[in-house]
Amino acid sequence: MDGRTFPALDRWESGAHADSVVVGAGLTGLVTALLLARAGMSVTVLEAHHVGALTTGRSTAKLSLLQGGVLSSIRRHFSARVADAYVAANREGQAWMLRYLAENDVPVQRRDAFTFARTAEGVADLDREFEVARAAGLDVERTDEPGLPFRTHGALRLADQAQLDPIGVVLALTADLRARGVRIVERTRVRDVNDEAPATVVTDRGEMTADQIVLATGTPILDRGLYFAKLVPLRSYAAAYRVPGDAVPRGMYLSIDAPTRSLRTAEADGRTCLLVGGNGHIVGRAESAKARLDELDAWTRESFPGAERTHWWSAQDYRSVNRVPFVGSLPRGRGRIFVATGYGKWGMTNAVAAALTLSAEILGGQLPWADTLHHRVTHPATVGAGARFNAGVVREDLKGWVHAETARPEEPAEGQGTIRRRSTGPVAVSRVDGACRAVSAVCTHLGGIVTWNDAERTWDCPLHGSRFRPDGARIEGPATEDLAAEPG
Ligand SMILES: Cc1cc2nc3c(=O)[nH]c(=O)nc-3n(C[C@H](O)[C@H](O)[C@H](O)COP(=O)(O)OP(=O)(O)OC[C@H]3O[C@@H](n4cnc5c(N)ncnc54)[C@H](O)[C@@H]3O)c2cc1C
Ligand code: FES
Repeated sequence: MDGRTFPALDRWESGAHADSVVVGAGLTGLVTALLLARAGMSVTVLEAHHVGALTTGRSTAKLSLLQGGVLSSIRRHFSARVADAYVAANREGQAWMLRYLAENDVPVQRRDAFTFARTAEGVADLDREFEVARAAGLDVERTDEPGLPFRTHGALRLADQAQLDPIGVVLALTADLRARGVRIVERTRVRDVNDEAPATVVTDRGEMTADQIVLATGTPILDRGLYFAKLVPLRSYAAAYRVPGDAVPRGMYLSIDAPTRSLRTAEADGRTCLLVGGNGHIVGRAESAKARLDELDAWTRESFPGAERTHWWSAQDYRSVNRVPFVGSLPRGRGRIFVATGYGKWGMTNAVAAALTLSAEILGGQLPWADTLHHRVTHPATVGAGARFNAGVVREDLKGWVHAETARPEEPAEGQGTIRRRSTGPVAVSRVDGACRAVSAVCTHLGGIVTWNDAERTWDCPLHGSRFRPDGARIEGPATEDLAAEPG
């Protein structure tokens, strides 16, 4: 994963039973499993890839209560009471994480967090965020000097936030869980869940049963509750740079205006490097993912002369249409299936808050902020935001099928993919490292037509964010099945 040694984990056992099965070994799943195990439950974690494989392991991992324009976005949908509860949840998530890092000797750096305006148009958004954040009890200040080497139009500052290494916390949680007897089974994809008593988890390696199942899979892998229609899947890019003289700003920064720029430092090989993130887009809808990455790189080199890129990566997170995460029991899951999703790229605090909420719900505890956040009726503004996102989904669906019908049978160049029309349906053909592969172009979730991601060389679905390798193997998203192989 990143050169560090990961422990060999547990073997799959068909027919086993656990009090709770947690699906997904990202931050949400690992912390939920820990809280349930601490209460004496037997817990098994099932993970399709390996611990921390997807978003958590690739997070820029700022542990901050200042979160760009999130609070003012929440206030557009909800009352001040909900914004207060969101801050309380994140405060508790942050405090839990800081305590856990300290108790387990995982390094963390205390840093001031800044939200800055890149443009004059961003200033009004900054003003609004300032008002809402102050009203919600955050000790935010205004500053014209955020300490960046390029021009800004002012910033907000919240002192004494934190940044961490997400792999460090994943490893600590994994060791802790195993020491408590929690089984963690990797390379096991959950394909379905049946909510009879006891509930059955159907995987690609067999079945097991549990009294409760927690879907900590990023976007939920079951369609009940229609979460895929209330979540915007957002992919963004990040890169690490060496800067001459290690002259990098010490704070944690995020622009309030688009295209997003996120900055923080990280220590590597005794040097301080710069992490830069941004240029996000809805999964599968960028004309060229590579062009987004190149533009981010060009901006960094211009802003930090002499900067040299050492690594780059990409990841996706899901934003709920009303900006408040969805956490709790799945509708029509008979109280046995739970979900947590929609952190909008603020999961370091929100995933912990979600784990606290889910464990309280399963174990019978009560958290006042969780009641306010997660048991609310849908607000009219939320319905509007969901409808706008879904109008985009319908447009993309139509566009994909029209393109598939009219596409010409071109041979893809190295590193490229094209859609071809065949009598059996549209086919996605790619050429990677000389290998030409053909798979069905129809997403196994709800039939979107996949598009080629030229940065990561994957097939990405523009409808709800499922992603697949060139050979059709599912990587992530609400789809649980691979794209079928087609004759070349
Ligand atoms: C580029 C980027 C930067 C970010 N920076 C920050 C930041 O600075 N601060 C912050 O607070 N947040 C940040 N976030 C958000 C944060 O990283 C995420 O919200 C958080 O990591 C999500 O954790 P998770 O456990 O829900 O998801 P994940 O870490 O994605 O875990 C889900 C797991 O479920 C597994 N899974 C999925 N489907 C199945 C299946 N069918 N069977 C078995 N397993 C399955 C996956 O393989 C995966 O390991 C960032 C996000 C991105 C994309
Ligand atoms: S992710 Fe829903 S149709 Fe592809």
